[in-house]
Parts: sequence; structure tokens; C-alpha cells
Amino acid sequence: MSDASFLTLGIETSCDDTSLAVLSGPREVLSSVVSSQVDLHAPYGGVLPELASRKHQEVIISLLRKVLSDGGVSNPHRDIDLVAVTRGPGLMGSLLVGAMTAKALAQTWEAPLIAVNHLEGHIFANVLSHPSLEPPFLCLIVSGGHTEVILVRSFGDYLLLGKTRDDAAGEAYDKVAKLLGLGYPGGPAIDRLAKEGDPKAFTFPVPLGHTRNVEFSFSGLKTAVLWAVRRLEQEGAPIPVADICASFQRAAVEALMSKMRLSVEMTGVERVAISGGVAANSALREAVASQDAWEVYIPPRELCTDNAAMIAAAGYDAYARGLRSDISFSPDPSLVLAE
Ligand code: KG4
Ligand code: ZN
Repeated sequence: MSDASFLTLGIETSCDDTSLAVLSGPREVLSSVVSSQVDLHAPYGGVLPELASRKHQEVIISLLRKVLSDGGVSNPHRDIDLVAVTRGPGLMGSLLVGAMTAKALAQTWEAPLIAVNHLEGHIFANVLSHPSLEPPFLCLIVSGGHTEVILVRSFGDYLLLGKTRDDAAGEAYDKVAKLLGLGYPGGPAIDRLAKEGDPKAFTFPVPLGHTRNVEFSFSGLKTAVLWAVRRLEQEGAPIPVADICASFQRAAVEALMSKMRLSVEMTGVERVAISGGVAANSALREAVASQDAWEVYIPPRELCTDNAAMIAAAGYDAYARGLRSDISFSPDPSLVLAE
């Protein structure tokens, strides 16, 4: 494998972003396109799976043309050495569009195919932004569907230290935003408004903050916000939206940080990375960055949210370790990374 001339096409369609990327060698992104479906789903307050898959199939071929042309790939049959695609977890209909596109391209271009775990992709967002990052390290994956702490023992060897019992952190952000009338997705709106609010205005519980296991729970926090809003409504009082956002965010970030501190303590591993959509959150980024005792890795925001560059990087690494996927592989909506 001659590194720099080896080109991987990455395809990511697990949820509501259609994304493709061309990667040169292990870490260099030549081109990347992300087409968001936020406007399509916003009126419904969440992702509608049927609409998501229809939109993926509508846009994917024109995005493919764009990513190849942006990456200077004039003859993909000759130049693309590997096709990497998200196998799961995610929405079945959405995953199928990426999988079928990848299979057709691999077949046509006579290129090998590798099916990638979406969560391994999120871990590789850190590797893309910090090429020198080497295991062992801890990775907090926080997105709309996942909240888990993974010990990366080596690339391809992952240990799950703990995850959420109920809602994912991003799901809590989205639900709280919805009840405050802030629209979808809620994370960026709460992040913005929290900067104008008082984080001590409301005392929301820090979920499982003092337990000695790496386990998260966000549904109680969401309910506490709901009751606070209901009480104010019953009293006819104005809803201090910015204060609620700031107070909710303080509890949510502290819940994540307390378990990261515990994970460091339990494993002795002080190299810490974050990723997933919620890793774009300013308060979480600041809290992680301020841990002086840790060696901290935080990807730029565009690599935190779903993207195909991270899938291509994870795919390249798996391929270099000798893994291959059969053309008959099936997407798996509930694929796990580690147990
Ligand atoms: O990783 P991602 O793009 O998709 C999934 O795999 O789920 O994550 C999307 C989630 C949404 O719940 C969204 O509200 C949240 O990430 N998010 C944020 C921020 N930006 C996106 N949450 C908090 N603060 C943000 N700035
Ligand atoms: Zn994701």
C-alpha cells in the first residue's frame, strides 16, 4: 500500500446527512461534501426515517460527482483504491442507500469494499484532526443517538466503559429545545442561548453524578426541565429561556465530565478525545480543554457532526489491518462497537 497515492472514497448516510469524502493515504482529506437534511425534518421536530432515505437517494449521485471532481479524481475506476461505507448503527432505510451505492461503485470500479461502524468513524474524527494521536486513549462519543465512553486499546480493539441507560445526550438537547420551542436540531440553539443565560438560575439534577460506575442517564434531567417550565406556565410567569438553557447545559456537561473523570481514574489513561455532534458544544469543549492533567483531543466542529471523511479514515485503517467486507454485507441499524 503506497500511502499518499492510495485513495479511499468514504460514504456516510446513517441518519440525516448525506456525506461523501475522498481521502488520500491514511489522513489527508482531498475533498468532502455534507448535505444536511435539517430543513426537511425541522417542521416535524425530528428526523423522519422515510423522508431521510428518500432524500439520500435523490442527492447521492450528484454529491458523488462533486466530491470526485473537488478531489481531482478524473478517472475513479483507475484511481479509487477502496470504497468505505457506514454499515451501522443508524436508520435502516438511510443505511441502505449508502450501502447500495458503495456496492455498485465497488463492483463497477473493481475496488475492495469495507463496511465501517459509524462509532468507529466518530473515533477517527480525532485521528483526522490530530494525525499523531495514538492509542491508548479514551473517547467520549456523544451524539443524537449515542453517549458512551470507549477505551481505544489499539485501533480496531475497543472496550466499552459505559453508556447511557436511556436518552443520548444529543437527544436530551433536542427534546429540551423542542419543549422550549427552539426548533430542531436543538443542540446548536441551546448552545447559543446558554451563553446569554445564568447557569445557576435553576438547580437541575446532575444525572448519576456521584455513582461510581460509568453510566449516563438524561431522561430525568429532561423531565426536570419539563416540570420547571410547567410550573412557570401555571404561575403565569415568563419563561426565562436563556437561563433554562444555561442551567440545563451546566447539568448535562457536568454529567458528561464526571464520568470522564471517573473513566480516567479507573483506567489510568489520561489521553482523552471527544467526538459526535454534542462534541461541537462550546461548554463541553471548554470543560474538556480545561483539564490540565489530561492530554486532550478535540476535533473541529465539522468533524464532530456526521461526515464521510471520518468513515473513510476508519475504513482505510481497517483495510490496512487486513479487513475486507463481502459485497453481500447487510447494513445493521443496531451495530455495536464494543461491549
Ligand atoms: O453525530 P451527529 O451529527 O448525528 C448522530 O450520529 O446522532 O449528532 C447530532 C446531535 C443532535 O442531537 C444535535 O442536537 C447535537 O448533535 N448537537 C449539539 C451541538 N451541535 C449538534 N449539541 C449540543 N451543542 C451543540 N453545539
Ligand atoms: Zn454520528
